[in-house]
Amino acid sequence: MRFDTVIRNGTVVTASDTFVSDIGIKDGRIAALAAELTDADEVIDATGLLVLPGGIDSHVHLDQPSGNGIVMADDFDSGTRSAAVGGNTTVLAFCMQEKGQTLREALKVYHAKADGKCHVDVAFHLVVTDPTPDVLGQELPALVEDGYTSLKVFMTYDGLRLRDDEILATLDAARRTGALVMVHCENEDAIRYLIGRHEEEGKLSPKAHATTRPIAAEREATHRALSLAEIVDVPIVIVHVSNREAMEEIRRARQRGQKIAGETCPQYLMLTADDLDQDAMEGAKYVCSPPPRDKESQEACWEGLEQGVFDLFSSDHCPFRFDDPQGKLNDKGKRNFRWIPNGIPGVATRLPILFSEGVMKGRITVNQFVAMTSTNHARLYGLYPRKGTIAIGADADLALWDPNSRVTLTNDLLQHGADYTPYEGLEVQGWPVRVLLRGKTIVGKAAVAVSEAGGTYLSRERSSLVVNRSF
Ligand code: URP
Ligand code: ZN
Ligand code: ZN
Repeated sequence: MRFDTVIRNGTVVTASDTFVSDIGIKDGRIAALAAELTDADEVIDATGLLVLPGGIDSHVHLDQPSGNGIVMADDFDSGTRSAAVGGNTTVLAFCMQEKGQTLREALKVYHAKADGKCHVDVAFHLVVTDPTPDVLGQELPALVEDGYTSLKVFMTYDGLRLRDDEILATLDAARRTGALVMVHCENEDAIRYLIGRHEEEGKLSPKAHATTRPIAAEREATHRALSLAEIVDVPIVIVHVSNREAMEEIRRARQRGQKIAGETCPQYLMLTADDLDQDAMEGAKYVCSPPPRDKESQEACWEGLEQGVFDLFSSDHCPFRFDDPQGKLNDKGKRNFRWIPNGIPGVATRLPILFSEGVMKGRITVNQFVAMTSTNHARLYGLYPRKGTIAIGADADLALWDPNSRVTLTNDLLQHGADYTPYEGLEVQGWPVRVLLRGKTIVGKAAVAVSEAGGTYLSRERSSLVVNRSF
């Protein structure tokens, strides 16, 4: 067979295996894995490089309205460009239902934002903020059949949070339809109460964001979410876990027999609450929810990754510009931490950080790296085996990694819309030097080749967590 592209002499890594092989690509898919493949229009020499499935980041916020004149720093163009630069070929972004809006109306808005603008492949999770009987009973079943197979619900944030009875109704609808529900676990009432107390005491600087959202508020909500899921007998994903106590709730629920997945993020390995406690509003750069904790919590999150309590390592990329009245330094935010928009950029730095701090420092194997950054995302969110692995018939979504390349992270390198990275100056070892999306190079040397928006929208199957259930 003549191939469009052959990648020669690379070390191929999947979630289970590492082997030297050439890869033959035809019509955007992997057509051969063998030695001595030569007959191709384009030959890429991958000697000394690792060939990994392109990263899948299943927790990315792009172009979401944030209220009060705040504007997210990335739209689908810049956000997916940055994703590609960091070695990703698929992102799952959020389609946020406004109160009173149907899910179909919300999807229309988000498809208009994304279609034709993406540099990697994209799919949407539906954020349910208004779970009316119509939304849950009529819309959701049809949308799941149409390939929108995951939802997110919030237990915190005014205007987004659901009450427990609403969460139960949503979980029950997910069980009936085979959708997978992601849950943001923090106790909103406790947080509101603590914000009130901080305001009374005049504690209004960014560091108060961390002290008003304590570990106990996350642990309690995690336990509650898991209990609600147990009551209606449905799998869920606990997203962006920041500490040991919440992590142990996941471990215990699994031991009880619940089918669940856990996710953590780079900020919980690399940052602490001390980063929020800096002069001149600098701490605003690190305001995200749940907040970064302490060194012990970082250790716990590493343990959760090493031991498989966490299946997913995602960015929770939620970028706002720092020095900007529409971003972190908006007028109200400068006076009171509660108005600093929550979220940090990270879609480009997720993979290099885990590769460098995890694989190169011997905490996880490169196969675990692939599982936690690509394969498990594909399985859990209904994209496997088209995405997330290197196998005959899979999309040729590949990242060629130079494990010896040392790169100092700077904001300019990342090509996102934010004016900072929380990881400025961090040196990483290992970098994706070339990225292919369905066989086409989208990032080349020096990470600048992404010009054409060739990403497509992905309709998804149901999650691996819900297979063998009938609907
Ligand atoms: O601070 C964060 N994480 N912002 C993004 C929204 C969310 O909760 O995932
Ligand atoms: Zn969240
Ligand atoms: Zn998020």
